[in-house]
Amino acid sequence: MCGITGYIGHEDAKEILLKGLEKLEYRGYDSAGIAVMNESDVQVFKEKGRMAKLREVVDEKIIAQVGIGHTRWATHGVPSQENAHPHQSALGRFTLVHNGVIENYTELQQQYLQDVTFLSDTDTEVIVQLIAMFSEEGLETIEAFRKTLTLLKGSYAIAMLDQATPDTIFVAKNKSPLLLGVGEGFHVVASDAMAMLHVTDSFIELMDQEIVIVKNDQHTIQTLAGATVTRQPYQAAFDASDIEKGTYPHYMLKEIDEQPAVMRKIIQAYQNEQGDLTIDDDIIEALRAADRLYIIASGTSYHAGLVGKQLIEKMAEIPVEVHLGSEFAYNPPLLSERPLFIFISQSGETADSRAVLVKLKEWNYPSLTITNVPGSTLSREADYTLLLHAGPEIAVASTKAYTAQLAVLSIISYVVAQNKQIHHRFDLVQELGIVATAMEALCDAKEEFEKITIEFLATTRNCFFIGRGLDYFVCLEGALKLKEISYIQAEGFAGGELKHGTIALIEEGTPVIAIDTQRNVSGNIRGNVKEVAARGANTCLIAMEGNHNSEDRYVLPEVHEWLTPFISVLPLQLIAYYASLHRGCDIDKPRNLAKSVTVE
Ligand code: F6R
Repeated sequence: MCGITGYIGHEDAKEILLKGLEKLEYRGYDSAGIAVMNESDVQVFKEKGRMAKLREVVDEKIIAQVGIGHTRWATHGVPSQENAHPHQSALGRFTLVHNGVIENYTELQQQYLQDVTFLSDTDTEVIVQLIAMFSEEGLETIEAFRKTLTLLKGSYAIAMLDQATPDTIFVAKNKSPLLLGVGEGFHVVASDAMAMLHVTDSFIELMDQEIVIVKNDQHTIQTLAGATVTRQPYQAAFDASDIEKGTYPHYMLKEIDEQPAVMRKIIQAYQNEQGDLTIDDDIIEALRAADRLYIIASGTSYHAGLVGKQLIEKMAEIPVEVHLGSEFAYNPPLLSERPLFIFISQSGETADSRAVLVKLKEWNYPSLTITNVPGSTLSREADYTLLLHAGPEIAVASTKAYTAQLAVLSIISYVVAQNKQIHHRFDLVQELGIVATAMEALCDAKEEFEKITIEFLATTRNCFFIGRGLDYFVCLEGALKLKEISYIQAEGFAGGELKHGTIALIEEGTPVIAIDTQRNVSGNIRGNVKEVAARGANTCLIAMEGNHNSEDRYVLPEVHEWLTPFISVLPLQLIAYYASLHRGCDIDKPRNLAKSVTVE
């Protein structure tokens, strides 16, 4: 988490840095700061809280063409002004921003910096103090920088200013994402291309353990060992308008509404000239060669994985296990003989999943990443990648990436089934088209979901979601969405499990939202609804056409029974949105969270 920016050129650095940080705020919003350098004069502005607060304190009149910036998601040290980046060395010569975690910072502090007074509780300050110390011992800045990096254990994306070289930004990367943007007579540095699209769409990917010496009209990339590296820039595939809210009050609402279009875009992206769904032969072969698939993911992507397991097993008849990255990495299960690992990650940067990928590579197992971000760490490091084509997802709560993940998983399942000559009596292109149309109808019914939210969640402190089969997995996602943005305590349960303990929590008026799209368990879930209603629950049944009856609160348009999660999740996304709106919460940037979770 955390995001960094840097600029060196001929324009007003502070405005470019601030705009960049506003785009990176999704990576953390505990504090924000910039440092700008004019000749050898470095000025630092930093504030606890959101970017808007930083803007208030930055001196409008300041003129500088070089600078670095940071937006923080606190790991070491509470959110505070002292712990906000940039951090400076004792005499103020070096100024540095950092995204990542330095695991051995305490050891380094004890071994090298016992006499230095630290001004923050961060792991980052060790880096800048070490560089200053090696510099005072006589090393050139670049060598002090390099020597320090060789001592660090952990992850870092770093940008640093040195008063003695006002025409340079020193940059380094290991495990945390970092891009170098290139323009006419200027360079930028950013954790994510989105941050700097307002100045360039030409970026160079940096690799782990690389250093870059950045000047306005040139850059030198080196390995940590000192070898020079040449790498061509690529053009970022989206333009600045993709990341604007337009007329929407919140990104989350915009992204919910984008889901039908994303479905259509995915269908197109995975169709060949004949209109058949297709994926690379190599990926089909890898999937067919596996005797078991292991899906690794976190949060919403994990919930997509749970649905994906059902789709793959039902359509392609390959056994699948789904694991949380954070658990698998340190407690792997017994593996089958020929496993294939599938990483599902919107950002492609989730550290918990990456920890698993690093292990797999040591074990020589094949891997496929399904991600929204081309060139992301998980995409680069896995053997194969499939893209979500959902466009940038800015709201912290994931919506369109989830349904895009389901779409790509359904396509994989279908294509492999066809390749294995398992023929199902439906055409997935057509069925996903029906899904897109159904999603449109649900987006048009927003007011209805706002009413449901007011009716069931206006004053409650908790809420339960129940369902069976595929509906159960959607309930897990609905509960996560509700708790993360409205702070209502919410849990998703398999309908049949309630009576094994959870039903004890049902009191007079407790909201219970039930999903009923699965024919084979429709009677059972309705029975579970009756059980909680008999104990005072305020029940809200959302059923699919065909399963519905007159008591249901909302009837979903009918889609193929295996594809119901695409549409049953949409009301739950909207309910979470309106619950958050009516409680006055910060919908796009919920407390304590960040979009890209790059720490384990
Ligand atoms: C919830 C949410 C998170 C992410 C999780 C994994 O709305 O967005 O639970 O799904 O942090 O992130 P990715 O998919 O980027 O690996």
